[in-house]
Order: sequence, then structure tokens, then C-alpha cells
Amino acid sequence: MSDNKVKVTIDGITVEVENGTTILNAARQIGGDIVPPAMCYYSKLKGSGGKCRTCIVKVSKGSEKDPRPMPKLVASCRTTVMDGMEVQNITSPEVLEARAGVVEILLINHPLDCPICDQAGECDLQDLGYEHGLQKTRYEFERRTFERIDIGDKIQLHMNRCILCYRCVYTADQITDSRVHGVLNRGDHSEISTYIEQAIDNDFSGNVIDVCPVGALTDRTFRFKNRVWFTKPVDAHRNCPTCSGKVTLWYKGPDVLRVTARKDQFGEVEEFICNTCRFEKKSTSDWAIEEPTRISDTSVIAANHYETLRPLPVIRPNEELREANKKELEKTVKY
Ligand code: SF4
Ligand code: FES
Repeated sequence: MSDNKVKVTIDGITVEVENGTTILNAARQIGGDIVPPAMCYYSKLKGSGGKCRTCIVKVSKGSEKDPRPMPKLVASCRTTVMDGMEVQNITSPEVLEARAGVVEILLINHPLDCPICDQAGECDLQDLGYEHGLQKTRYEFERRTFERIDIGDKIQLHMNRCILCYRCVYTADQITDSRVHGVLNRGDHSEISTYIEQAIDNDFSGNVIDVCPVGALTDRTFRFKNRVWFTKPVDAHRNCPTCSGKVTLWYKGPDVLRVTARKDQFGEVEEFICNTCRFEKKSTSDWAIEEPTRISDTSVIAANHYETLRPLPVIRPNEELREANKKELEKTVKY
């Protein structure tokens, strides 16, 4: 093992990673079912993570030198691995129970308006609630509500749905020239807001739509046009002077209903795209078509589509994991 590498074992699977890697990214290197969900961490955004707590895991052995377990569950996106560390995610009932609690808190103020939300079908919170949520809410108080705000003519903010992950703030800070929005106030008064409701108006502002894990920031040009699972995603590119021009076109029949950045297996954009590609180029003739977008088998968008991306099988071939978590095993795809 080189000096720069450390070994970490996650749910019984050992992997060697660069020193300084977080537990979450080490798990992503293993891939498949043992990767903790992440609602606020975004590998392309510096400083992201540490806000939502969905990625919590149990460190059952701190390191080879100091094998004591960590006293509390830790956020895997913010905790770096140590040599010899042992981590439990889906093999720990304690983690699964705590994660269910986190989901319950995230949903306290979130409206159950999936049937009319444009994000339905590609919403991380919807998936999380399905995997870890309760069937009913125990919350008895009135939910906090906000008026919808149009941020410029292309983006709408529906603050009721926001989970305060800060991804859009980091995106505006790091990808665009000027940030005019942020989180105002604290505690349960916190809200995403543009100072004096200024429009976000710059070449890369549309990327806040792609990074938002819920339907709080949506594309006004796509609003109520269609459910995503009735559209067909196709990868395409154009020669763009501002960005890479590599996008996904979402077709309904011959019409391009929306344009988004391409996303990887963890739901993160591969490359941020400019507003011209996103909002102004909605004819097939604007693009060189590549191939159908690969969509995860577990996504509702994959229904009725042709080219799917199978998650790496991790539980099925691993005897220890199979024994440890029979419930997860039932959910894994058979090969
Ligand atoms: S608007 Fe979306 S991206 Fe921004 S903080 Fe809220 S949930 Fe996160
Ligand atoms: S993804 Fe780690 S705290 Fe949100």
C-alpha cells in the first residue's frame, strides 16, 4: 500500500482509497447499494455537504491505530477515512432507523404535492421518502408556507419544497459571476431568497435547477408541460462558445420539451451548461444527436425506455451483506 492510500471497510467490503477521501466518496468507489444517500453533498461544489444528515453512517472501528468506535453516527460526506476504519451503512439497523428519522424531519414542512410537481419522477426526496420514509406524518402543526417567486423569467422558486441543502447557493457562488440569492434568517425561519427579489440573470444561472434535489427550483419553460416519465431523454451536443454543449434533450414526440445537463449515476451533473443551451435551443436542428440517455433501472423514467444503466450488484454476490440485510437484498436487481 502506498503512503497516500488507506484501507477502509464499508459494510464488509474493503476498498483502498486516497488519503483524505471521505467515507461517502469511498463508498461511491465501491458503488451499488451500499452508497449512502446524499441530499446536500455535491462533488462538483466546494464546501457542500454537512447540512442534511441523510448520509449518516456508523464508524464501528475508528482506525488501525485507534480502533475505538466513534461515539455517534457521523455524516459520511464530511468524515474522512482513516487507515483500517470500519464503517456500517445498510448493515446497521441503528443507521437505518436514524436515517428514517432524518427523512421524517426533512418532510416536516415539505408539501405532498408530487402529483403536480415538475420534479416528480426525478426527485431525490421522493426516492428517499419511498426508501426510508414513514407512510404517514406524525406532525400535527401547520406547515410553513410561502408564496411562489419567479426568479427572472426562466426559474421559479417554490420555497415550500426547499430542504435548505444550500446546493443552489454554492452553484450561484461558484459557477456564475454573481450570486444574488442566499439563505436568509435562521432555524425554522430560514428561507432561500433573492435579496430584494432580484432576478438571477447570468449565463449559468439555470444550473440551480439541475442541482436542486427537490422541486423548489424549477424550469419555468418546462412548467406543467409533461411528466418526466412520459418524455424520452437523448444525449446530444452542439458547438457552444460558452459551455461544453453536452446536454440531455427531453423529447415528447418530435418536440424537445426541455434541455438539462447530463447527470451521472449519483444524480450529479457531469458538466454545468449555459442558459443558451438550456433555454434557447429547443429544436432538434440545433443539436447533434448522440444516443438515448442511460437511465438507472430503479428510476421511474426508465419505464418504457430502451437503454438502462444497471446499478452495480453489491449485495447479491456478497454473502455477509446478504445475511446482514435481507430487506435490501429483496430490493436489488437480479442478474
Ligand atoms: S432551493 Fe433547492 S437547491 Fe436551493 S437550498 Fe432549497 S432544496 Fe437546496
Ligand atoms: S449529504 Fe452528507 S450531510 Fe447532506
